[in-house]
Amino acid sequence: MSQLVPFAAQGAPATPGPVDLRSDTVTRPTPGMRAAMASAEVGDDVYAEDPTVNALEAEVAALFGHEAALFAPTGSMANQIAIQVLVPPGEELLCDADAHVVTYEIGAAAAIGGVSTRTWSPVGADLDPEVVAAMIRPDGYHAVPTRAIAVEQTHNRGGGGVIPLTALAELRRVADDAGIGLHCDGARIWHAHVADGVPLASYGELFDTLSVCLSKGLGAPAGSLVVGSAERIARARVIRKRMGGGMRQAGILAAAGRYALRQHVERLAEDHVRAARLAEALAPFGVLAGPVRTNIVPLDLTKCGFDAPELGAAARDRGVLVSVLGPRIARLVTHHDLDDAGVDRAVEVLTEIFRH
Ligand SMILES: Cc1ncc(COP(=O)(O)O)c(C=O)c1O
Repeated sequence: MSQLVPFAAQGAPATPGPVDLRSDTVTRPTPGMRAAMASAEVGDDVYAEDPTVNALEAEVAALFGHEAALFAPTGSMANQIAIQVLVPPGEELLCDADAHVVTYEIGAAAAIGGVSTRTWSPVGADLDPEVVAAMIRPDGYHAVPTRAIAVEQTHNRGGGGVIPLTALAELRRVADDAGIGLHCDGARIWHAHVADGVPLASYGELFDTLSVCLSKGLGAPAGSLVVGSAERIARARVIRKRMGGGMRQAGILAAAGRYALRQHVERLAEDHVRAARLAEALAPFGVLAGPVRTNIVPLDLTKCGFDAPELGAAARDRGVLVSVLGPRIARLVTHHDLDDAGVDRAVEVLTEIFRH
């Protein structure tokens, strides 16, 4: 007999859980998003015949002022596809030492793309284009030639910081002078757009490739896109297939993304206000690692009587989940599924913990 429980017998919806501040990826699709997914027109996307995927790709390309875009299952895959498009095996990518592409993608640039990476000291959003320029190595067989630079907007381990448009424009000049590529890990570029009011197309024109995520802050269950020229995206399509990222009736996911882009971008401002409220409440305890610009509140516990795992455990016991990123580093992230009552609860619990 089947062990599978029929849907109708699965019981009531889960009771409200803890206040989850670990990440903006913990969101669940809203009823409206689920309805959009359920009614999505689909086809086989490996044949480029899924009308909803095709529509999403065209919309996202247009938002960034580029010719084309490619739907990918995850932000990590979108980044690694873009890196492989810009950097041949045995050649080099430069990025911040805290960049997601070299911290949380499990060595993919080297393991999958054969790409060598070199990093500048972690500076979050305080990017200095001159420091990057000085690292670029020329062509030739004496050293690993630099082929591309990657930046992250907003900067995740940099506390959700926003790199100013002027610094990015300067970095573009640096890349042009050296004849190399420029990639943006724009998993949360929507947050930068909302925080600084910079049009997405203004970011788009500075980069050869961008990866953008629908599942971080925008509330979609999955999906990212690589954005670039038609020629680069054609190559990206081949690399995606090679990496096993060619999905079939992916329009069900793309529909969630299209819905998120229409409904959930401008509301990110609410997440930024909630993050600012958390920061304001915690500031008196001297635990903020830096200014809060978007939806991430970075915590540095070096001056505390307890470390990050202890904070994580104490908060969890009281129904608040925080992200532990290092022995003394923790992070709070606001998102679509967190309301003002959740922030109130988190403030109550965290201030009580820090007070003792
Ligand atoms: C800045 C950044 N880039 C890329 C990713 C990767 O996204 P995914 O988890 O979909 O692979 C993340 C994930 O949180 C991220 O924060």
